[in-house]
Amino acid sequence: MKQQRILLIIGGGIAAYKCLDLIRRLREAGASVRAVMTRAATEFVTPLSVGALTSERVFTDLFSLNDEQEIGHIRLSREADLLIVAPATADLIAKMAGGHADDLASTVLMATDKPVLLAPAMNPRMWLNPATQRNVAQLRADGVHFVGPNTGEMAERDEAGPGRLVEVPEIIDAANKILAGRRGSPLARVGARPLAGRHVLVTSGPTHEPIDPVRYIANRSSGKQGHAIARAAAALGARVTLVTGPVSLADPPSVDVVRVETAEQMLHAVQAALPAGIAAFAAAVADWRTASAPREKIKKSGAKPSLELVENPDILATVGKSRSGRPTLVIGFAAETENVTSEAAKKRKAKGADWIVANDVSPSRGVFGGDGNTVHLVTADGIEDWPTLSKDEVARRLMLRAAEFLRHSAAAAE
Ligand code: PMT
Repeated sequence: MKQQRILLIIGGGIAAYKCLDLIRRLREAGASVRAVMTRAATEFVTPLSVGALTSERVFTDLFSLNDEQEIGHIRLSREADLLIVAPATADLIAKMAGGHADDLASTVLMATDKPVLLAPAMNPRMWLNPATQRNVAQLRADGVHFVGPNTGEMAERDEAGPGRLVEVPEIIDAANKILAGRRGSPLARVGARPLAGRHVLVTSGPTHEPIDPVRYIANRSSGKQGHAIARAAAALGARVTLVTGPVSLADPPSVDVVRVETAEQMLHAVQAALPAGIAAFAAAVADWRTASAPREKIKKSGAKPSLELVENPDILATVGKSRSGRPTLVIGFAAETENVTSEAAKKRKAKGADWIVANDVSPSRGVFGGDGNTVHLVTADGIEDWPTLSKDEVARRLMLRAAEFLRHSAAAAE
């Protein structure tokens, strides 16, 4: 953070008070902070308190003659290394996605040529509203960065779900990653890229097992969790190979992506991508495929077809139990609907994995295709229950733990 210039745009929400701590921590880390407040934000925290912490004048009104004479909105947006919007309200997100510029905050965001990090905070229903989700998807596609929201209780009692502003260290961590990637700052060399020099192999998504040329057996995996792991590993400095089944997600940046359809193709792609220091198997691989798939479409008019199924190769078990070229850390997943951790512990042993990330995939949990996950990390030392987190955060924590594991195993080998 040393000598980095942060432009903090404070949106109007109950979580705006956390910006005071954010400013303090950013400055402690060596950054300079300039703040823009929306009109609504000034209802939650005063420009006076914000100014006292930034030691700079606070900008609140696009049409203030003084502001424009002293520093125009274009300069304001350019004289920064990173723009952070916190809390990013549904309204600010919508304005950004729609390209509006009707106040200082939205104008600065439109005018900037610098990376932008949004930390959303709003009521869970507003976050889950299709309009907000559309806007978020649009902004992600435009290259805007997001941290959070977290899942938990809201200021309105009796309400819980995704929409809480992430904690201040998480915002700083996300900002650090963006700045490190952008400038190759000292941070990029120490700590921020603990997987530099490592190869991480990740599987993601479902597999499609053909019944005939037009029909297939599949499952509900979207690839979000696996792709998040690939992104997290790359952000931590790893060379990443992502072997993915059919998904409708964009390829993560700076990752080698190998696209496959079936479990057998996935196994071959995984074997071709080895060796790797870490292998994380998040794909929902079909356990069975049809014994044979005819070349022509099965006709409805013919005899009622019956499917003969045969077992697919178990990719995790093949790699986990291999005698040569086994990755130092083999991470499997377990998708369960009952006895989640005990089933996961059995799978860890049966498949030769070091760790199993267990998740409850009962439909009521919304894990398949959703953005959040509640996982339990099953290792030889026991079971850790993680809080409900975004899939990105699960991925980041998992890869940080994996980096730590590799560091210790390298130290032990010396
Ligand atoms: O893709 P999302 O919508 O984001 O959803 C995420 C997820 C639910 C798919 C993910 O978090 C998850 O749980 N992935 C594992 C799904 C699964 O197949 O679980 P399983 O318990 O059936 O398999 C256990 C492990 O063996 C998994 O690591 C799996 O990749 C692996 N496996 C299973 C069968 C097989 N033939 N080969 C394998 O490698």
